[in-house]
Amino acid sequence: MSRSRQSVVLWGYGGHGRVVAEIVEAGGGEVVGIVDADREKLSGQFELEYLESDFVTRMRTDGHGVLRHAGLLVAFGDRARRLERVVEFEPHLADAVVHPSALVAPSARLAAGVTVHQLALVNTGASLEAGVIVNSCAVVEHDCVVEAAAHIAPGAILAGGVRVGRGAWVGAGATVVGACSVGAGAVVGAGAVVVRDVDPGSVVAGVPARATGSGERATS
Ligand SMILES: CC(C)(COP(=O)(O)OP(=O)(O)OC[C@H]1O[C@@H](n2cnc3c(N)ncnc32)[C@H](O)[C@@H]1OP(=O)(O)O)[C@@H](O)C(=O)NCCC(=O)NCCS
Repeated sequence: MSRSRQSVVLWGYGGHGRVVAEIVEAGGGEVVGIVDADREKLSGQFELEYLESDFVTRMRTDGHGVLRHAGLLVAFGDRARRLERVVEFEPHLADAVVHPSALVAPSARLAAGVTVHQLALVNTGASLEAGVIVNSCAVVEHDCVVEAAAHIAPGAILAGGVRVGRGAWVGAGATVVGACSVGAGAVVGAGAVVVRDVDPGSVVAGVPARATGSGERATS
């Protein structure tokens, strides 16, 4: 859970990153820095600003010196890159941040780098691994396990006991019914209803959800 006045460096300052910035601040934390691949986003607004390529090089030699006392939140959309960065820089991730309007059960476990967005619900016994995104109005029901850097998009629902693999993406408004699993790196299309296990790396869509392709073009 969010420490009070946690200092955060955001990796990615596009649409998703700006949402995460407001969640950090709403939870009593402070965004002290940003990292982005786009030089134009480095506007001098923050105490620490790094171009992504410089940041990676410097982090690999002296992570604590680069971040000073801040924690890192990986806040860009590309899910394959996000998983890589979350895994490589896990020791430097910030504590989980939770928007004040979200509900998180006391028995839920939130690893470092998790973000829980506006009006989301994470219920009893759920476990969110490093860098997971539970986006606005999403529901992660009791005893779900969501593995590292997976993204539960706005309005998606995971019924009780669902497992979502590393780096997977459950699209906006999709539902995964009880006890199904979504394999690592898989994509569940917006609005789909998943009624059986989804293979790792596959893309499914529709009601009931069926395979549509390899997911190569589905990048966020
Ligand atoms: C499922 C998805 C990953 C497919 O992306 P894609 O591989 O680029 O697929 P395309 O857009 O080329 O569509 C391929 C076919 O699937 C259909 N399709 C695409 N998305 C669909 C969906 N969510 N449900 C049902 N059918 C869908 C298209 O109509 C198309 O059908 P056609 O071949 O009969 O014309 C994508 O459309 C999707 O739903 N992404 C999730 C978006 C989201 O939730 N965003 C939230 C951001 S926080």
